[in-house]
Amino acid sequence: MTTTPSVIKFGGSLLSDAAARGAFLKDVAKFSKKESVVLVHGGGPEINAALDKMGIKSAWVNGRRVTDEAAMAVVEGVLSGQVNKNLVGELNARGVAAVGLSGRDAGLLTATPVPELGRVGEPAKVRPALLTALIKAKFLPVLSSVAQGPDGGALNVNADEAAAALAVAVKARRLVYLTDVPGVLDGQKKTLPEIRAKDVERLIADGVVTGGMIPKIRSCAQALKKGVKEINIIDGRAGLTAWAGTRLLP
Ligand SMILES: Nc1ncnc2c1ncn2[C@@H]1O[C@H](COP(=O)(O)OP(=O)(O)OP(=O)(O)O)[C@@H](O)[C@H]1O
Ligand SMILES: [Mg+2]
Repeated sequence: MTTTPSVIKFGGSLLSDAAARGAFLKDVAKFSKKESVVLVHGGGPEINAALDKMGIKSAWVNGRRVTDEAAMAVVEGVLSGQVNKNLVGELNARGVAAVGLSGRDAGLLTATPVPELGRVGEPAKVRPALLTALIKAKFLPVLSSVAQGPDGGALNVNADEAAAALAVAVKARRLVYLTDVPGVLDGQKKTLPEIRAKDVERLIADGVVTGGMIPKIRSCAQALKKGVKEINIIDGRAGLTAWAGTRLLP
């Protein structure tokens, strides 16, 4: 089995879709027998639900959630606690030796604060030693995108940006984003089969790509630039094997 992993990001948008979640976990269990995998997950809707319960409203800037101290505590509890541990439990129930981590473990992901967004960070440094050790020992790391800030506190990193930074650091053979749409859609809502890195900013400026798709395609462009060869944004509602979606090209 190769120890060069695929990094797979499972969108928070799919977590509460029981069929998609079941298909995905089944596919990961199968896939991970042949190839090493690092899983990164989001949790947008779960975080929204928890913040709603507490009466905390979120604002968004370019697909990133403005996160004050109180919201950060909720984000970390939901992402690194509830969402992460449930995925790990379900994988382990399928015979996978999954290990749940966040970017705060062993310095896996350090982020630079984006103070105008509160406790939000941008990936700054990945220390992949723990991932490498786990992969070698045939464990499957499952990561939330909560990162370590320079003050030792938690920073909320968009899970797509975290996945891209991790993929670069572990020299991933492939980076796959599973989300709740059939890839990146054009102005007529048709899937774009391919996007070139040089076209990413234009798609955003033209308003074709908005919201959560912004950090996704920006992080793809970054990862391509830093050497990840194969990147796909696919429809995660069909499991991991359908591969219906958009391929990002240099
Ligand atoms: N051009 C586009 N093509 C496809 N989706 C788009 C486009 N522009 C905006 N979107 C939105 O981006 C969303 C996907 O990003 P979103 O952040 O919501 O999901 P995710 O990254 O899978 O989940 P999470 O952020 O919780 O991990 C789609 O559901 C869609 O509403
Ligand atoms: Mg997202």
